[in-house]
Amino acid sequence: MALENVHVSQHPLVKHKLTLLRRTKTEHKKFRELIRELAMLLGYEAMADLRLSDIAVDTPLASAPGYHLEDDIGLIPILRAGLGMVDGFLEMIPGAQVWHLGLYRDEHTLRPVSYYNKLPIEPTVHVCIVLDPMLATGGSAVAACDVLKAWGVRRIKFVGLIAAPEGLEAVAKAHPDVPVYLAAVDERLNENGFIVPGLGDAGDRQFGTA
Ligand code: PRP
Repeated sequence: MALENVHVSQHPLVKHKLTLLRRTKTEHKKFRELIRELAMLLGYEAMADLRLSDIAVDTPLASAPGYHLEDDIGLIPILRAGLGMVDGFLEMIPGAQVWHLGLYRDEHTLRPVSYYNKLPIEPTVHVCIVLDPMLATGGSAVAACDVLKAWGVRRIKFVGLIAAPEGLEAVAKAHPDVPVYLAAVDERLNENGFIVPGLGDAGDRQFGTA
């Protein structure tokens, strides 16, 4: 597996919060808080290469060298579970645009089914960040990147929480140019396509629909 484009956070806070997130007894409210916090921490790492230009800034005492963020960001949460990651990102980059992509996984074929797509006519940002806590077979992540590329986006990043090795391979094969940022890579997929040990269904656990 081509792992050079897969970044697994080694930050102690990420490891700590992911452990709380996995616990069966973590209730919905806490689960949502943890998803938001983990999104911020992973987003911080994923955005380390954003482009800056030099500007001067006036302090109360003098002029100081400063920086302007050159890259405009688009956030693409994959519904439903990706929704919980949006607020964490928006706290850091309030000017980001948010485009929703609705994909669900057919429970028999495990293939993604598209049911909603709210993209403007043409891309107006420099970097698109796809958000989805779970990367299982990789079908949803690949489909999201397919849509974005067909739409004309060049720079795409994927930020998730937990991935299965099978899913990472699928993304690396279909989109070797897309870096993937994660809190953990788990052992395997089970016969139902769920990540093991994982955390269960991230959509159901956020929205109380289990
Ligand atoms: C889950 C998850 C991902 C997808 C991952 O969503 O949030 O979107 O499955 O699986 P894949 O890598 O095999 O495509 P789900 O289809 O359960 O929809 P939901 O978020 O609405 O619950």
